[in-house]
Amino acid sequence: MIISIASDHAGFEQKQLLAAYLKECGHEVVDRGPDSDDRVDYPDFAALVGNDVAQGRAERGVLVCGTGIGMALAADKIAGCRAANIINVQFAELCRQHNDANIVTLSGRFVDVEENKRILDAFLSTPFEGGRHAGRVAKIMELD
Ligand code: RB5
Repeated sequence: MIISIASDHAGFEQKQLLAAYLKECGHEVVDRGPDSDDRVDYPDFAALVGNDVAQGRAERGVLVCGTGIGMALAADKIAGCRAANIINVQFAELCRQHNDANIVTLSGRFVDVEENKRILDAFLSTPFEGGRHAGRVAKIMELD
């Protein structure tokens, strides 16, 4: 799977580790930065990943900031993005099964890297259930 990933300074260390993990798992990873933990503004990086997903350059997006909240707020502004801020595996499964999320936003400060790897495993392997959820997701997309 082609995965676009980025962070801000608060998520930088985990972004590096998670990008390496995704490559080990066999994914093609597009690292949109940053290249250091110098202070940056998370909406700039949410936009890079969000546009990759919305324009079809990546199948999924991964964004890491301090909480994941700011990244989700920013990425969800981009038409075509369904970004979910996820802090446990069950929610990772549900954001795929019910919401067809195409971007996961992670906390680099409050969730450890091993749990974030498990979250990514669930996010990338769980299919959308469709059915009764399909019309609801379509209604979300009508709000774009
Ligand atoms: C940066 O200090 C922090 O605000 C950011 O990483 C993120 O948590 C925002 O939602």
